[in-house]
Amino acid sequence: MEKLIIKGGVPLTGEIKISGAKNAALPILAASLLSGAPIQLSNIPHLQDVTTIVSLLGQMGVNITLDERSNIEVQAASLTSFHAPYELVRTMRASVLVLGPLLSRFGEAQVSLPGGCAIGTRPVDQHLKGMQAMGAEISIENGYIKAKAKRLHGATIVMDLITVTGTENIMMAAALAKGQTIIHNAAREPEVEDLANFLNVLGAKISGAGTSTIVIDGVDELGGGSYHVLPDRIETGTYLAAATVTRGRIKVKNTRPDLIESILLKLEETGAHIDTGTDWISLDMKGNRPRSVNISTAPYPAFPTDMQAQMMAVNAVGEGSGVITETVFENRFMHVQELLRMGADITLKGNSAVCNGTDKLHGAPVMATDLRASASLVLAGLAAKDETSIDRIYHIDRGYECIEEKLTQLGARIHRIPSESKQ
Ligand code: EPU
Repeated sequence: MEKLIIKGGVPLTGEIKISGAKNAALPILAASLLSGAPIQLSNIPHLQDVTTIVSLLGQMGVNITLDERSNIEVQAASLTSFHAPYELVRTMRASVLVLGPLLSRFGEAQVSLPGGCAIGTRPVDQHLKGMQAMGAEISIENGYIKAKAKRLHGATIVMDLITVTGTENIMMAAALAKGQTIIHNAAREPEVEDLANFLNVLGAKISGAGTSTIVIDGVDELGGGSYHVLPDRIETGTYLAAATVTRGRIKVKNTRPDLIESILLKLEETGAHIDTGTDWISLDMKGNRPRSVNISTAPYPAFPTDMQAQMMAVNAVGEGSGVITETVFENRFMHVQELLRMGADITLKGNSAVCNGTDKLHGAPVMATDLRASASLVLAGLAAKDETSIDRIYHIDRGYECIEEKLTQLGARIHRIPSESKQ
């Protein structure tokens, strides 16, 4: 297993480009199962999770071609399998996104139940409930979701809670269903809207995506088309937070400030000076230590749970104390134990983390437990004195494209080593 070695204490400065959004690319790739025609996708990030979904599609018989500029052409003319095996789903829960498209276009799917993960139990009951309302017969056998349907029909679905991939799965299933589906209490995340925009390019009839009521008028078939995936708002926020913890000054390009208003407001509260254009954001700490902030995570447009761990690193080095409350996942504080090893002062009280900031964070060997937790440790390492080594960084490769290269471009001292080798 590889490690990241970081020598902290350098204020980040410079410019980087933001990649395409992981959490839009994954459902869009899954949605390509809904059409037999060729689809060209651009701004797909180079990430382990993308490789996982591409191999899943490949195993099902989808034709996939990558060109040298990392555009992907996908064509699911016919499939040889409707099966998403445990071995793949276990490594990436988003594999469950093939359920809706398979059921809708081919009338059958066997998808492994994802099981628990490092950030919570994460059931998929809402995905199944929605598809059952549309006429699917679903059973759970030997750890697999087995779903069948002659042709799904439209339905009015009220989600019991806001779920991003749940909304996406039902929206994809409804795209080829007979009649109209209405999803109430839908997730409003920009990635849900991006998926709807993509499906509409292929000929779907979806309106209201980005609001809490989505209306899908089912069509008989979808065609081909080209689509450019939206920028990654969490990657954007992570680099801005990295500049904040290091008291730096950076500009991120190829991004969308309108997608991260809640994050920008919190960063401003820390003392960051922020400027934006249509596709760029600059952040300048003017050499000052950030102030700690209070945050409560919630579905979009509120503060995203996927930025909670990174803001914990900001509070760890911030002036004063801040309370971070996690309301989306029940177990998303695994990074706290690791930050304590670096000298942070954080106390967990139920789903809140009370942090008294210190300007004496020190390097330590730490272990990544999930994707965003690993980003938090990278940020802490960049701010800390001395050297931090982060183990199990395969987590970070799931969601951050070329992270060492981008941070090196911003002046960070960071490199990757194989676990066993001496530094
Ligand atoms: N939930 C249920 N039942 C369901 C579905 C969800 O109880 O059927 C619960 C979950 O356990 C959780 C809450 O609802 O407590 C919200 O979960 P959601 O379904 O929205 O999460 P997700 O769709 O599995 C996506 C992102 C996550 C991100 C969350 C929340 C993708 C591929 N993943 O997950 O991204 O944290 O939404 O915004 O879109 C990440 O990128 O690091 C990541 C974990």
